[in-house]
Amino acid sequence: MSKLNHIVILTGAGISAESGIDTFRSEGGLWEQYPIEQVATPEGFAADPALVHNFYNMRRAALKTVKPNAAHIALAKLEKGLHARGGSLTIITQNVDNLHEQGGAENVIHMHGILTSLLCQFCGHRWESHEDTSPNDSCIACQRRSGPRPDIVWFGEMPYELDRIDQVMSQADLFVSIGTSGAVYPAAGLVSEARRRGTKTLELNLEESQGSYLFDESRLGKAGDIVPKWVAEVLAA
Ligand code: OAD
Repeated sequence: MSKLNHIVILTGAGISAESGIDTFRSEGGLWEQYPIEQVATPEGFAADPALVHNFYNMRRAALKTVKPNAAHIALAKLEKGLHARGGSLTIITQNVDNLHEQGGAENVIHMHGILTSLLCQFCGHRWESHEDTSPNDSCIACQRRSGPRPDIVWFGEMPYELDRIDQVMSQADLFVSIGTSGAVYPAAGLVSEARRRGTKTLELNLEESQGSYLFDESRLGKAGDIVPKWVAEVLAA
């Protein structure tokens, strides 16, 4: 493997599966257990805020019981290794858990938001919180009651940090997609953007995804097995 210095990685629910967090589109996954339109759209929140607060309270509480797995830890090692040789790693994650950070990664973009943050639907203030929330809560900035909502990008909303994502993509030598089905845009379109720029592309996933044919190389297996092996190859090169 030739020497790669600036790597951008897109991660999805599959990287956290071995930590015990449900993926979305597998059999029995989250979107079979809960209707998307109820818990992951602004309209669902407006219709029943208590139900939506409870859904994210449950997921936030579950975060306290899980640990990063070998794949998260390997990516943190890769970040340090690339940095030591003058390179960089940016992890763009669709995941709303904080397992990359718990595993030691620092340069992480949460394009779909994160469970440990709240957003005021009135004034737009965002702040860190690990506690349960309810429709009776008030915003810590504008004080308006019922302002706080989960800081999660719902369907129909704009993902975070698209400018920064574009900037890191423009500097990448390699784009890697790990544990995502490639079903949700704009994340699913990043591989095509990488190809357009002439950046090499690699997919690491349990099974073939909708966009596997777009990658220069696809390796299939569990993230906990194939990610540490790939990281060792990059760091040895
Ligand atoms: P999906 O549930 O759509 O896809 C998870 C992918 O991970 C599938 O391709 C699985 O085959 C793969 N997978 C499962 N276990 C794995 C393992 N142990 N190792 C490696 N791969 C594994 O989840 P995402 O692609 O992340 O958005 O979904 C994208 C977005 O859709 C989410 O961010 C969420 C959801 O709606 C929002 O909530 C805005």
